[in-house]
Amino acid sequence: MRVLLLGASGRTGRWLLDELAARGHEVAVVVRSPAGSRIPADLEIHHGDVRDLAVLATALASVREGRPLDAVVSALGPRPGATTLHRDLAVRLVAMMPTAGIRRFIGISGAGVDVVGDQKSLRDRAVSALAQRFGGAVVRDKQQEYEVWSASDLDWTLVRPPRLTEDRPDPHDAGQRIGVPLGAEHRRVDDEVEHHAHRSPRRTSISRVAVARFVVDELERPRYVRAAPLVAARRPARHRRDRLTRSASSPG
Ligand SMILES: NC(=O)c1ccc[n+]([C@@H]2O[C@H](COP(=O)([O-])OP(=O)(O)OC[C@H]3O[C@@H](n4cnc5c(N)ncnc54)[C@H](OP(=O)(O)O)[C@@H]3O)[C@@H](O)[C@H]2O)c1
Repeated sequence: MRVLLLGASGRTGRWLLDELAARGHEVAVVVRSPAGSRIPADLEIHHGDVRDLAVLATALASVREGRPLDAVVSALGPRPGATTLHRDLAVRLVAMMPTAGIRRFIGISGAGVDVVGDQKSLRDRAVSALAQRFGGAVVRDKQQEYEVWSASDLDWTLVRPPRLTEDRPDPHDAGQRIGVPLGAEHRRVDDEVEHHAHRSPRRTSISRVAVARFVVDELERPRYVRAAPLVAARRPARHRRDRLTRSASSPG
């Protein structure tokens, strides 16, 4: 697929870029400062701020060898002071994507967002209530982003993770994804990520790389179109498990 990735220089965006490339997708990005951000120079790079209408319009209109974009994927995260980034971008994308012939959007939201039909656990209802009460404008922005997408008739997905961690993928898994048939990839992601449209997963964190894999999986095999799945790690991170195993087996 041809994908426009927003937030590619961010901590989750970098994993998304790697994952999209590893699975053979063609990626265009909008970045403010590609220098030092690990963005390969041979990528289609649109320089600028996503809030700049001209930059966004040019990026959305991207055509390569007669192929327009198939989807927009966002790992944007707000910088201090940008309290309406997600809502404003959603309003613009809803208006501009149809003109560019794009229907699919997948973005990273947050577990604190409430969605019609949610059956969150007591724990998560309390966390969401606290986040909405004390989380300020950034949390309100995510909730409003959801309201905008849910009122649109586009094919959107907002992934709702809890706390994101820097845990690395299983080292034994490295490099094995290239050339893996889609079905196999799909099963592997499910082994790693617990997800549901409305019910709370058991765990309260997930690695950025697992979120990236889930997003790309959803892009290839949509299961949550016009939905906002709650996601979390299925099991503790490997290195934490290793540490526990080591300390349990070490004498004294
Ligand atoms: N941290 C958590 O525990 C947690 C939990 C749940 C959900 N989330 C959500 O997950 C998402 C990804 O988080 P993250 O920690 O990976 O984000 P991050 O590292 O802060 O990266 C944010 C990205 O957005 C880009 N960006 C921000 N404003 C921009 C603008 N106006 N124009 C162009 N690019 C812009 C940044 O580019 P620059 O480098 O140019 O600023 C950067 O690439 C966020 O929406 C976050 O709220 C986070």
